[in-house]
Amino acid sequence: MLVDGFGRVGRDLRVSLTDRCNLRCSYCMPEAGLTWLPQPGLLTDAEVVRLVRIGVDLGIHSIRFTGGEPLLRPGLVDIISQTAALPNRPHLSMTTNGIGLALMAPDLKAAGLDRVNVSLDTLSPETFKQISHRDRLADVLAGLDAAAAAGLLPVKVNAVLLRGVNSGEAGALLDYCINRGFDLRFIEQMPLDPQHGWKRDEMVTADEVLELLRADRRIEPDPNELRGSAPAELFLVDGGPARVGVIASVTRPFCADCDRVRLTADGAIRTCLFARHETELRDFMRAGGDDVGLAALFRQSMLGKKRGHDIGDPEFAQPTRPMSAIGG
Ligand code: 5AD
Ligand code: SF4
Repeated sequence: MLVDGFGRVGRDLRVSLTDRCNLRCSYCMPEAGLTWLPQPGLLTDAEVVRLVRIGVDLGIHSIRFTGGEPLLRPGLVDIISQTAALPNRPHLSMTTNGIGLALMAPDLKAAGLDRVNVSLDTLSPETFKQISHRDRLADVLAGLDAAAAAGLLPVKVNAVLLRGVNSGEAGALLDYCINRGFDLRFIEQMPLDPQHGWKRDEMVTADEVLELLRADRRIEPDPNELRGSAPAELFLVDGGPARVGVIASVTRPFCADCDRVRLTADGAIRTCLFARHETELRDFMRAGGDDVGLAALFRQSMLGKKRGHDIGDPEFAQPTRPMSAIGG
């Protein structure tokens, strides 16, 4: 098993399949993009599946494919079908910006993908362009509907609120999601952008999100919630059954219950989004390292998992990799 020094067990593996993206969300990437990881350094499809298999043998039971934007990975459907064919098949989900999902949702479902998280911060085409520097809102909305139609359920929607940009849209986003049966989660903006644009006092906090929503609906903690290691706190909307989640990574960190571990597109294990250290598996594997050795490195890397992220600590420093190269 993947146990860390604080007794937490790694069960959820986030697998970044590319650091590239076709959007430029301001809290994630500069408008000009980033220097992408060099192609030969990226894990091949077979290498990804091998490391996932080793993770599953070590007790991982859920895989989340991420990016950058995972739909840009040419071998995505193959990687999913091979992962779905593993003994002890893990639960398979994907975090995507939704662009291209309208076309691919049926193939992804057929390959074995169970569900998706789609990022959606606004319902206004102008605001979408302002946040992501691309005019693609219609593609995202079409992608969401296609995901639901293909049975990639539940469809979860991630929204980051930026003060004065889309913070007035909290209620509208919730209505949109409730009408379509999507599970909405608001995520506090985290200091992960390479432009270092994050400011603690400008961030829209989870408490503010709840206050914004309470302007015209009842929002109460869900008494039946079994949170476990889930980052989202769930609230009933107007008595339920509709719910909304908030992920208060900054103001109410959930590190003590974290069961997540990450594999970067270039083959490094990271035990936290905010880790300052990672364990390189790719070169060991390419030098002929066997499964036993890889599993040992995987387990050893878990032992280095920090107690928490320390955002807010004067000593806190952003990770050197941007979010898009870590894998949400
Ligand atoms: N803070 C919070 N959420 C972020 N995401 C990307 N960057 C940040 C950040 N700095 C979210 C995206 C997407 C998921 C992968 O992570 O909105 O939904
Ligand atoms: Fe792309 Fe996601 Fe980053 Fe937006 S947040 S630029 S969609 S990787």
